[in-house]
Amino acid sequence: MKARSKLARPLETERFILEPMGPIRFMIETREIRRDPEILAGLFQTSKPRSAWKWARTMSLPDNRTKFAFSITPKSGGRSIGFHKVKMRGYRSAFNSVAIGDREWWGKGVVLEVRAKLMNHFFSCSDVERFYGVVEARNTASIFNYRRLGYDHVGSWHRSNQNPQTGEVVDFLNFEIFKDKWMAGPWAEKNDDA
Ligand SMILES: CC(C)(COP(=O)(O)OP(=O)(O)OC[C@H]1O[C@@H](n2cnc3c(N)ncnc32)[C@H](O)[C@@H]1OP(=O)(O)O)[C@@H](O)C(=O)NCCC(=O)NCCS
Repeated sequence: MKARSKLARPLETERFILEPMGPIRFMIETREIRRDPEILAGLFQTSKPRSAWKWARTMSLPDNRTKFAFSITPKSGGRSIGFHKVKMRGYRSAFNSVAIGDREWWGKGVVLEVRAKLMNHFFSCSDVERFYGVVEARNTASIFNYRRLGYDHVGSWHRSNQNPQTGEVVDFLNFEIFKDKWMAGPWAEKNDDA
């Protein structure tokens, strides 16, 4: 297995600096996001605000060994606009989750640019061979993002969860992509400078 310390280093995309956060920075930087009803609904299907304790527990804090959270800061200035997490779990697999708190940046391809960079980085610097994600069936933006990056929809969980606030029952869609498909596709960077 290749060293994982290489994974937790700052990265750059065309428009953003991505910085790996430790658990304390993650908690500080996500103070507003964890109280944002739309973000909470996207991540947890309920907009009920989370205490710091519950947020820490359910977000599984970054340890920069198998759990990573990269802060996303525009090169054009200003503060972090959100984060993208990558959690290594299962057999050579990595799980995505993302939240962009700053509405100015919604609809501007942030997730595509950032996720593509992180995938190239993890494919190049670790033994990860598969990325995957699980999306609530009405989270259209996330579904489009997975499809745009070439992920396959490999199954659905029907009526698998219930919103504790509204009682609504929701479905989830599973997406995955393997390294060989990614490397043959348009988003692959052949030379991650790792
Ligand atoms: C998920 C999130 C990061 C997406 O942000 P984003 O990438 O800026 O999303 P966009 O608005 O660009 O939408 C992505 C794509 O879906 C399309 N889309 C979004 N909503 C749509 C709708 N209702 N119908 C049709 N297309 C839609 C957009 O047009 C866009 O496609 P394009 O790139 O071809 O134009 C952001 O909404 C967020 O932080 N949500 C809360 C947390 C969350 O849900 N995280 C993911 C959990 S799995």
